[in-house]
Amino acid sequence: MSETRVKEPDDMSMTAALPPGVTTVDAASAKVLSILQRRGIDPARAGLTDDRADDPAEYQAEVYWMAWRNSLRRAGLSDYLRYRLSDLGQEEREFVKDYIDQHIEVRQKQREQHKLHPDQRQHIRPLVLNAILAGTVGAGKTVTAVAAARYAVERGLMARLVPHTLYLSWLRPNGAPTGMTATQVIEFYERCDVLVLDEVAGQMDGYATNFVRTCTYDLINARVNSNRPTLFTTNLSSEQIIEVLGEALYSRIGTRAEVLEMTGDDRRMPKTWGVRRTGSGMER
Ligand SMILES: Nc1ncnc2c1ncn2[C@@H]1O[C@H](COP(=O)(O)OP(=O)(O)O)[C@@H](O)[C@H]1O
Ligand SMILES: [Mg+2]
Repeated sequence: MSETRVKEPDDMSMTAALPPGVTTVDAASAKVLSILQRRGIDPARAGLTDDRADDPAEYQAEVYWMAWRNSLRRAGLSDYLRYRLSDLGQEEREFVKDYIDQHIEVRQKQREQHKLHPDQRQHIRPLVLNAILAGTVGAGKTVTAVAAARYAVERGLMARLVPHTLYLSWLRPNGAPTGMTATQVIEFYERCDVLVLDEVAGQMDGYATNFVRTCTYDLINARVNSNRPTLFTTNLSSEQIIEVLGEALYSRIGTRAEVLEMTGDDRRMPKTWGVRRTGSGMER
């Protein structure tokens, strides 16, 4: 279970917890050590007391929540942390809940298979792999995807979100966020159980460069090959996606995919919320 040990490099809680007048983690450790020594506590054993949940499942849940929260923070979308399934309209809620429930079930079965002897294991893969939330700007696509991922995290899956163009910018030379390497960035988003790739092919005029296509293909292909679900949000039509990213990438995105069309009024406008249409099956 290597995933439970994922380090979150830009988690700010360490710095936030520093005692007054202490500005670095090293200085904080020195201060803590001196306090422990004064109180006659063995520092080697002190860490075992109460700084994290004892129950492995609880500890894993904490780590997954932190990974999810940090991914929104890194994407500049911390405001979206509050959205849950109960905030969604009925159609969106049912669509994403069914989608995530299916992956929770698959994950559960995969874990059971892992307990068996390799010769006896069955290959279990989800029927619906990807989900595409398509629709106009402000229709609530990101909110819907975030609520879905949060539900996944609450049910024991590791989820992350990244806006497509931000991900690509991190892979450029020296572009990775502070404390991370490009390889770590790739691992983070390739390996989580559920990924929200927000605004796929957004802010790209006409045709994407080789760099964009290659990096995107590698990410999506790795996830498809390991049967890890990805939720895409986009305000482009399928034709526009083909135009920008090409047929090969479009077909990877569409791998066993379901589409939710969100054609509501712009929810950023202070209007009453309209009813949206639900569709399924990727256009080909
Ligand atoms: N289900 C919802 N509940 C409350 N507010 C919502 C909901 N869906 C959308 N909104 C509001 O509308 C805004 C736009 O939604 P967003 O998901 O960012 O649109 P999109 O990603 O489709 O462009 C959000 O910032 C939020 O304030
Ligand atoms: Mg959005």
